[in-house]
Amino acid sequence: MRILVTGGAGYIGAHTSRLLAERGDYVLVVDDLVTGSRDRIPEIPVVSLNIANGSAEQLEGLMREHRIDAVIHFAAQKRVGESVEKPAWYYEQNVGSVAQLLLAMQAAEVRKLVFSSSAAVYGEASGAIAEDAPTHPINPYGATKLVGEQLISASSRAWPLRAASLRYFNVGGAGSPELGDTQALNLIPICFEQIADNKPPLIFGDNYDTLDGTCVRDYVHVSDVAEAHLAVLDALPDLPGNTMLNIGTGVGTTVRQMVDAILHVCGSDLTAEVLDRRAGDPAAVVGVVDSIRELTGWSARYTVSDIVESAWQSRQHFNAISARR
Ligand code: UFG
Repeated sequence: MRILVTGGAGYIGAHTSRLLAERGDYVLVVDDLVTGSRDRIPEIPVVSLNIANGSAEQLEGLMREHRIDAVIHFAAQKRVGESVEKPAWYYEQNVGSVAQLLLAMQAAEVRKLVFSSSAAVYGEASGAIAEDAPTHPINPYGATKLVGEQLISASSRAWPLRAASLRYFNVGGAGSPELGDTQALNLIPICFEQIADNKPPLIFGDNYDTLDGTCVRDYVHVSDVAEAHLAVLDALPDLPGNTMLNIGTGVGTTVRQMVDAILHVCGSDLTAEVLDRRAGDPAAVVGVVDSIRELTGWSARYTVSDIVESAWQSRQHFNAISARR
């Protein structure tokens, strides 16, 4: 296949682009290279472009010129806190890009799309969450992902588009050290940072109704997430309209278990400090992942220790690079 990957120089996008290229697909990446980096995908052509505003004609031209069959759309802003500060910009970027892409795809007659959505569309739902759970995002980031899904669904009713919106749970780890996420502001990198400063990792609340009182999440290895995109892309001809699919492991891990694994991999003897609950955190968020397995045969292969271990290797890699500069 000939695939246009937006955001293909980013964290999940680069993992996926490399897998596609390795299996022999033609890959063209479009990425504004603000948070993404060409170093992640040295072998793959990159067009440097932010697609959120007025890019439809240029995208259509690229799709025609490169005879594109399918699009995987990763390019987006993904910081929940920032989305609360800059909601209009988040809608412009995350919804605008979907609109430009769909205009271009319809004009160029490209009829397959895989979209990066997020479990953030479920908002404060707690427990084991299937795709038919109510969607009530609690921040602008999650709202932009939900609107993106809705725009794709409406398009799939208007013209012969086959699409899937992948709702990622807590993605972490690295397929190789240079592919790690250098931008993330979530549990694993925050703990690494604390430990590097010789400060205790912080646990936001230990009085939830869970195994050890700390929040439960579904941590999924980025290499598994990348594989899921290939599986879904290959299954698209058999799927109608826009299919929502959870991407997780179906297994929950508590914050305490995660922090212990992180301390272990760092070889640290610090003890975590428990603070108050963080606002808006659901007690447990674990994906029901039967749909994607039934439709594509995909299921996650890596464990939480693989995630923590590979994230640590990646951090060491980037530390070594900055030490040399
Ligand atoms: N946590 C701590 N200490 C920290 C950081 C986080 O205890 O220093 C806890 C949080 O309170 C939460 C859990 O670790 O209970 C995971 O928090 P993250 O911030 O790593 O991730 P979230 O589950 O809050 O958010 C993730 C993604 C978002 C996405 C959301 C919903 O990072 O992008 O899932 O799918 F929107």
